[in-house]
Amino acid sequence: MLSSNYSKRLYGRTRGRSKKKIDLKKYYQTVAKYKFQNFDKKLDYILDIGTGYGETSIFLAKKFSNKIVISCEKYVDGNIILLKNIEMNNIKNLQLHNGNVYDILESTNEKNFCLVWIFFPDPWPKNRHAKRRLITSDFLIKLHKILKKNSEIYIATDSTIYIRFILNTIYNCKDYFLWLNQSEMNLHIKSYFDIETKYYKKAIKSQRNPSLFILKKL
Ligand SMILES: C[S@@+](CC[C@H](N)C(=O)[O-])C[C@H]1O[C@@H](n2cnc3c(N)ncnc32)[C@H](O)[C@@H]1O
Repeated sequence: MLSSNYSKRLYGRTRGRSKKKIDLKKYYQTVAKYKFQNFDKKLDYILDIGTGYGETSIFLAKKFSNKIVISCEKYVDGNIILLKNIEMNNIKNLQLHNGNVYDILESTNEKNFCLVWIFFPDPWPKNRHAKRRLITSDFLIKLHKILKKNSEIYIATDSTIYIRFILNTIYNCKDYFLWLNQSEMNLHIKSYFDIETKYYKKAIKSQRNPSLFILKKL
């Protein structure tokens, strides 16, 4: 079962700015239907972290229909859209954790996951907020523990500050992960996947080119 003790705080918004009224009772009833509960040893899992409006989770659930996607996000407005899309697309292999990814990481010591996606993690560009960034060495080592052999992590960002920070983190974790696409000049997401998330579109609109890092577990 999930622990409620966060080892790491979860920053950022739980509700959108629109102040649109949401029927929270109905929301939690629908969340309960798709809620991640426990791991089944017979199944392979994909971890999708900080899913916003859930575009990546729907994409992954369709692409890997024989695996279970766990979507981690506490942003209620985004999860409502994700839940609608799960039902509209009749998706059966997607579970939602309405909260911190650390709850999932600390709920298991088993290697349950075969893939991790982290699309546009909050960059926290100000120096005084740098400690809030998700992609640290400790975090990657935690992921290493729950990944199966040869599994991959995909990290996308359009923040030059975060790119530098991620490069440093990858270097510090060189005994744990191989940076698969390091020799390619082109790190663009669209060279790999035909997917657009809200933050991908924001980046393109502001003429910032998103980069994709692919790490393989050693
Ligand atoms: C910048 S948004 C990106 C959303 C989406 N992936 C996209 O590409 O549009 C980052 C999201 O990560 C979520 N997030 C941040 N830290 C998290 C954590 N520890 N566990 C789960 N979600 C987290 C935030 O709530 C936020 O919605």
